[in-house]
Amino acid sequence: MALPNEFIEQVRDANEIASVASSYISLKRAGRDNVCLCPFHSEKTPSCHIYTDTQSFYCFGCGAGGDVITFIRLIEHLDYVESVKFLAQRANIPLPEDSLDKRAEAKQRMLEINRQAARFFRDILLSEKGLPGRQYLQQRQLSENTVRKYGLGFAPDSWDALKNHMLSIGCTERELLDAALLAQKNNHSYDKFRNRVMFPIIDRRGNIIGFGGRTLEPDAPAKYLNSDETLVFHKRNSLFSLNFAKNTKEKYLILCEGYMDVISLNQAGFDNAVATLGTAITPEQARLMRQYCEEVVISYDSDGAGQKATMKAINLLGEAGVEARVLQMSGAKDPDEYVKKYGADGFRLLLEKSGGAISFELKKLALGLDMDTPEGKSSYLKKAVNLLASIENKIDRMVYINDTAKLCGLNAGEIEKAVDEKRRALAFAARKNEARELINPPKKRGDGLVPHSLLSPAEKAQRGVIAFIIHSPDLLPKIEKRLSEEDFKDEFCGKLYGAAARRIKNGESVDLSALGEEFSAQEMGKITGIIRENSLLPYQKERLEEYIRVLENHRDRYGGKKPSELSEEEMLKQMELIRKKVGG
Ligand code: GTP
Ligand code: MN
Repeated sequence: MALPNEFIEQVRDANEIASVASSYISLKRAGRDNVCLCPFHSEKTPSCHIYTDTQSFYCFGCGAGGDVITFIRLIEHLDYVESVKFLAQRANIPLPEDSLDKRAEAKQRMLEINRQAARFFRDILLSEKGLPGRQYLQQRQLSENTVRKYGLGFAPDSWDALKNHMLSIGCTERELLDAALLAQKNNHSYDKFRNRVMFPIIDRRGNIIGFGGRTLEPDAPAKYLNSDETLVFHKRNSLFSLNFAKNTKEKYLILCEGYMDVISLNQAGFDNAVATLGTAITPEQARLMRQYCEEVVISYDSDGAGQKATMKAINLLGEAGVEARVLQMSGAKDPDEYVKKYGADGFRLLLEKSGGAISFELKKLALGLDMDTPEGKSSYLKKAVNLLASIENKIDRMVYINDTAKLCGLNAGEIEKAVDEKRRALAFAARKNEARELINPPKKRGDGLVPHSLLSPAEKAQRGVIAFIIHSPDLLPKIEKRLSEEDFKDEFCGKLYGAAARRIKNGESVDLSALGEEFSAQEMGKITGIIRENSLLPYQKERLEEYIRVLENHRDRYGGKKPSELSEEEMLKQMELIRKKVGG
């Protein structure tokens, strides 16, 4: 379903690219433009540029690029139409009447099915059959209020209770399979969740997108079972309880491992707790949190696995531009157990004591070392100096240097000297690396755009002509008189020229936002690169003329073939011609 062009333009104009981007990643001003660490590949120095004049972005590291719509496609993992709608919603622009496509209808239907299923599970929990579930929740000290607030339910110990109920209210078996409420074996479908306490997973907009189910059987193969991915459920993009946490008054979120941690904390008054859904934290979840807070307190389980996951979370949150603090718990294995044992006040104390990511790492360095011996101290100090040297902010660095000094019983000035020395060595190594890259540029990865400086004249000309057409579509008739799609030997350029020519003839737009309708997000990066490299030179008649001439010559010389496609005979003829020319 195509969206009207005016609508797309309206949406694009209402969403300033820098403002959209800044809700995902922190931007640094550079003149009229902005630069940032590229959100689409991992890097230490910013190579992603956000251009104010053209309202586009381009990463010189990975070749990602495009307009604000492409940005949303990439960062939210949405398709073109969904991205336009996403931005429309962001800017409060109502959707055009007929734009509710099939996919959106299917999603709507699935959400309704989930809602009905959640209602069924809840009704069962309150009924006679729900007694085991009620007893379980009571034993876990959840109040009736909390159970209601989270819409908890119970899936009875049956292979078809949900299935029969849903069929009776007009769902089809296919729909229930698609919604991942049924599982299938040998062409026979049955209830996926059985004898489990059910936790509806609710998105930011209040839709039930999936379920988590906890078994009541002590030795079930899986303690928790989550819905499979569906049209509406994407684990990597979802956080449990964000529907409540997004409205918190606190300026930070509490990140836990499990459903029960979040619910217990919420019951104890911490409405800012969220959890990932049985998976390690993803970059998408980190960015999602960034939209709602500047700081996250990681409150994972106190066991080894939890601490390892903490390291990963610190890194991902840092990359997303969120300040990470780490809550250190002893005397309980997880936040759920902790609040029950020490109460809300106990947990609040932990929150207040939770330190920055660096103090967590500094403390970890001391693990396994005997800090009472000179050997222990010296080996600690070596590791600590490396870590301290990586802190960019001078004040932060001093704070941690002082902490370290106290821990080792040393003079802070001594440590500072060692850290400064390390920083000088690092800076020198970085400069050397930069110089090496200048002399010997790293090869482009993947199938991104080949850098302009490495192009042959014919390739430069192809890209140039295309940039002219996108810049001034009314030049097309003149260009078409002399060139055809055949003259664009580069496969991508040929495709792009063909598409642009067709669109212009159909009266359709060829601006970046409109092209996104038929080009993938990756191709949008290439198109943006082509426009960007050409915008460095003025769009003058003479330049276009030169490009056209290069392509005409190329065609005459090679009879419309690539040099590699010439037969031996043609090649000899060609060389003869050149010899004659050169000989005069
Ligand atoms: P309780 O025993 O109910 O308190 O669970 P917990 O929250 O302490 O669970 P645990 O720390 O074992 O796991 C944390 C989270 O990981 C859970 O909330 C689930 O989301 C997920 N999880 C745990 N066990 C499983 C499992 O067997 N399968 C899947 N898919 N996820 C699980
Ligand atoms: Mn637990």
